[in-house]
Amino acid sequence: MHYHKILVVGGGLAGLRAAVESAPKMDTAIISQVHPVRSHSGAAQGGVNAPLANNPKGKDDSWEKHAYDTTKGSDFLADQDAVEFMTAQAGPCIYEIEHWGCPFSRTADGKIAQRPFGGAGFPRTCYAADKTGLYMLHTLWERSVKLNIPLYEDRVMVDLVLEGDKCRGVICLNMKTGELEPFMGEAVILASGGSGQIYARSTNALISTGSAQAAAYRRGVPLKDMEFVQFHPTSLFGTNILMTEGARGEGGYLINSDGERFMSKYAPSAMELGPRDIVSRSIQTEINEGRGIEGQYVYLDLRHLGRKKILERLPGIRDLAMNFVDVDPIEKPVPIQPGQHYTMGGIATDIDGATKFGGLYSAGECGCVSVHGANRLGGNSLLDTVVFGKRSAAVAVEYILAKDEEKQGEAAMMKGLRETKERIESLLSQRGEENHADIREEMRESMYTRVGIFREGDSMQECLDKIHELKERYSRVTVQNKGMRYNVDLMRAYELEGMLDVAEAITVGALKREESRGAHSRLDFKERDDEHFLKHTIARYSEKGTLIDYSPVTITKYEPVARRY
Ligand code: FUM
Repeated sequence: MHYHKILVVGGGLAGLRAAVESAPKMDTAIISQVHPVRSHSGAAQGGVNAPLANNPKGKDDSWEKHAYDTTKGSDFLADQDAVEFMTAQAGPCIYEIEHWGCPFSRTADGKIAQRPFGGAGFPRTCYAADKTGLYMLHTLWERSVKLNIPLYEDRVMVDLVLEGDKCRGVICLNMKTGELEPFMGEAVILASGGSGQIYARSTNALISTGSAQAAAYRRGVPLKDMEFVQFHPTSLFGTNILMTEGARGEGGYLINSDGERFMSKYAPSAMELGPRDIVSRSIQTEINEGRGIEGQYVYLDLRHLGRKKILERLPGIRDLAMNFVDVDPIEKPVPIQPGQHYTMGGIATDIDGATKFGGLYSAGECGCVSVHGANRLGGNSLLDTVVFGKRSAAVAVEYILAKDEEKQGEAAMMKGLRETKERIESLLSQRGEENHADIREEMRESMYTRVGIFREGDSMQECLDKIHELKERYSRVTVQNKGMRYNVDLMRAYELEGMLDVAEAITVGALKREESRGAHSRLDFKERDDEHFLKHTIARYSEKGTLIDYSPVTITKYEPVARRY
């Protein structure tokens, strides 16, 4: 059995930042499904928020203003103490990664460059052209190499081992050998990203299946605010590859089939730089009301920015548009539509990234420390990864130092291993007419169309019925490939069960939330209802289906008001 004091599951930004924090103090290992530099964090393009006040238009910025914008953007569902912590730590965390070598773009006088992003009162998004996540990821990866942090790659976390109120470790499938491997530790930090692949038309990588969320949920760890799913306004039509918000931050327009900059109707002050929930709904409304091009998309028009600016600030966007839809944004507008992008919810944690189980933490998109509430502002997810990756690891170290026992839980680990083995053997021996890829596609399509940008009770109930039907059909799936090495057929079939559980948690939470707030926009309950729903949704697993209760939102100084942009 592998043993490290701290096990970090996930080699993206949150996981690497956590490992880099704890490794100098304590034996730490990273477990990752892919090589860290191939993590989904590398797809983040436009930037990371910090109130550095480097842009002349942002000279009056402050962490308090960043906190207010984030809270208002969240439609007042974020926990304000967590938001204040994140925004106060933003500057120090960005300078830290800059000093480790992150090649941010620069102002003429050599400071970190900042561009405007949606829902923000000032240009506070620090960027490295349009590949910010990739550069941050490489910087942290290099840091982890310098610290000699052990890496277990090609490992998919398939189960979490809890004993009483303590976490003992995780069980992983080694894709290279097909073996199940137990990893025991004093603390586990789950940082393996979100569950975007539950939806069709997602900007997320194929690995974003929510496997850690699902494993934790099934073992009794609650999920928080799962119904809040972000749709990025601008994903490339046909592929749903992200077209960064930075394109609008640099001055890009959104144009409908009448050639109109339609955002003037929906967010007259902020225009294209409204928050994502509002801009996505606006685009979808234009399409639904017949002003989409070919009835399906609108244009992101960058032509007026000029060749020089596009080549300097948005080279990746240009490459993607040219390579995938044969459009050069210097010459033609880019066809875009909203695409699923981010899960605001996740494993329920406190402000330290700690769950209710001793030694179990979660950070980044995998967790829900409640800084994004009902709608995340662009540029705050990269910030969340570095601030709470660091914080959760620091707190895990303190937790371990304060413990008087170590290496407890071997029996629980072996039990977890046996149970996982039985589940996998039973899946492999199952014979039936169902194909897991079909079930996955039906789930993704149903989630997108029925629990998507606009929602309503009847269609969400249809989606829930569909999920139940798919769960029943799942018991008749046949895994064709019985081999050991890189059995992707087996892995996809296994993870599908967890995806269906998470899809159910999203849908039940959404059905029970009878209001509209942030990204949760109901046609049958159009208003925000603070009296009844200014509260977090807590989803618990049961064999009979998701159980829902609620917990209070922490308000420090910002009383909810109507959002106008
Ligand atoms: O649009 C973007 O570049 C994405 C940024 C984010 O999700 O924070």
